[in-house]
Amino acid sequence: MRQLQITEWCHSIICSQVKEGGTYIDATMGNGHDTLFLCQLAGENGEVWAFDIQEQAVRNTESLLARNGYGGRAHLVKDGHENMDRYFAPGTADLICFNFGYLPGGDHRIATKPETSIAAIRKGLDILKSGGMMSLCIYSGGETGFEEKERILEYLRTLSPQRYTVIAQEYYNRGNHPPLPVFIFAG
Ligand SMILES: C[S@@+](CC[C@H](N)C(=O)[O-])C[C@H]1O[C@@H](n2cnc3c(N)ncnc32)[C@H](O)[C@@H]1O
Repeated sequence: MRQLQITEWCHSIICSQVKEGGTYIDATMGNGHDTLFLCQLAGENGEVWAFDIQEQAVRNTESLLARNGYGGRAHLVKDGHENMDRYFAPGTADLICFNFGYLPGGDHRIATKPETSIAAIRKGLDILKSGGMMSLCIYSGGETGFEEKERILEYLRTLSPQRYTVIAQEYYNRGNHPPLPVFIFAG
């Protein structure tokens, strides 16, 4: 049996909810797989932005997009996602996706952190349009530890149920602290 990867699952939920032609933000660019997916989703008229604090992530993403025929298609920003509000007005994005943790193939000590991750989620929720969606892929265990996951989940529990629907899913029968996909729908 083929294992269903977490990114495929997140992408399939995003595809079921989000239409092409909007504004999409990859809050954790990394090696660019999510940015590439967003470029494919965006179509001719959509706009894609991606953030990362590492130059290596920007270079890897530039190269992945170019190899797939999407060179120059996304705004690749070397800045922390906690500063996203400097780039977008409130209520202007259709989708924001986060894939927390460290850059695969890079320095594992440079990873997302609870304070900046929560600040970015909070600012991202202000930037989302009504009817927009946020996708969060949260890792734990190993080098990552548990603090970020626990702090994010604690924060998400405080969100108003009148304004947001928060759905956390799980790999129910998989051991070793599997990734946790969470989807937030803005009302
Ligand atoms: C798991 S990787 C992302 C994977 C990526 N979405 C992909 O498709 O390859 C997490 C990334 O978050 C980045 N990161 C860490 N802190 C950040 C911050 N404050 N703002 C934006 N990105 C950050 C890391 O540099 C790393 O590249």
